[in-house]
Amino acid sequence: MKISKRISDIPMSGIRKMFDLAGPDSINLGLGEPDLNPPVEAIEGMNAAASKGLNKYGPTAGIPELRNAVADRFSKYGEMTGDNILITPSGSSALLEIFESMVDPGDEVLIPSPGFVIYGPHAQLCGGSFDEYRLTDGDFQPDIDDIQSKIKSNTRMIVVTTPSNPTGGVLTEESKKALCDIAQDKDITIVADEVYDSFVYEGKHVSFMDRLDVSVVVNGFSKMMAVTGWRMGFICANRDVMDPLVKMQYHLCASPNMPAQYGILNALPVMDGYLENARSVFKTRRDLISRRINEIPGMSIIPPRGAFYAFPSYDLNMPSSELATELAKNKLICTPGSAFGRYGEKHLRFSYAASEEKIETGMDILENVMGRLR
Ligand SMILES: Cc1ncc(COP(=O)(O)O)c(C=O)c1O
Repeated sequence: MKISKRISDIPMSGIRKMFDLAGPDSINLGLGEPDLNPPVEAIEGMNAAASKGLNKYGPTAGIPELRNAVADRFSKYGEMTGDNILITPSGSSALLEIFESMVDPGDEVLIPSPGFVIYGPHAQLCGGSFDEYRLTDGDFQPDIDDIQSKIKSNTRMIVVTTPSNPTGGVLTEESKKALCDIAQDKDITIVADEVYDSFVYEGKHVSFMDRLDVSVVVNGFSKMMAVTGWRMGFICANRDVMDPLVKMQYHLCASPNMPAQYGILNALPVMDGYLENARSVFKTRRDLISRRINEIPGMSIIPPRGAFYAFPSYDLNMPSSELATELAKNKLICTPGSAFGRYGEKHLRFSYAASEEKIETGMDILENVMGRLR
């Protein structure tokens, strides 16, 4: 059968590749999903909805009760109503819907590097292209000079991720202002990916939800409620772009999962307590993994302020894909920095959404392998 050039041109994700090397007794610090249980209210709400017969198609933009409840919760970041919220079948599809609605063939999208793996391919799937902008060393802020130098007449969008996968970096107010100024001056849209907004351990999350004049914001319930398998996300956008986004969503899925929407709705009121506990668990693990990494000669990390990833650098003269493969052979799964773009090389990504015991064992393996290779 003929396969489109559009999809054939896109390489397989470097994250998935490492999973193929994982044996059953490997320590897996490659997975970007919380190992916590979802709030019971979410499961109960979803089960109750399914039992009551709410198993049919629903409104394309999501059920109004959930759109309004999400707007209420996220009003802490900016003024909005349910009309600014589109419930989507995952953060990933939210991103694709935005790209499909805003990128034309020939347009270019600037994406963070190191950065999450789907932005570049999404630009290509829309017939556009992408260029990578650099994050600064250590605190992983967008390098504004690098962005300025890469803006061209066809630059349509700048993607920003905060807190960041893979770096754990959290955007500062100064970086946000600089990005918004560029967006305004050059008529470029900011796509802010804020799916880790619940996981900030120091300082506070800096959201673009109060700048819907220049940005479209993606968030989701996968990480927030530990329901990665439910495939539930949302977009927060200004009313002008909502209609095309809803039209795009109609073509993608007709309407989001009905029982899951009721589950999310039922859990939203308990999220403050649930997330306080989740943050405390992750912060302890972050401290543990950062300390262990910094004790290994040749590896170093500034403890990341957000998300649940450690992205240390190393000083071996070896590409990150080779080092990650060597670790996988020794039963530790992580992701090579190069999977996250041109500026991710000489780093490894470890997810600390895993038990302290697994983190300790994983770091023992890392210490041994690094000791042998140096
Ligand atoms: C930065 C970032 N954005 C978006 C997503 C997509 O999340 P989901 O599709 O589960 O909502 C992920 C998942 O790992 C991510 O790390």
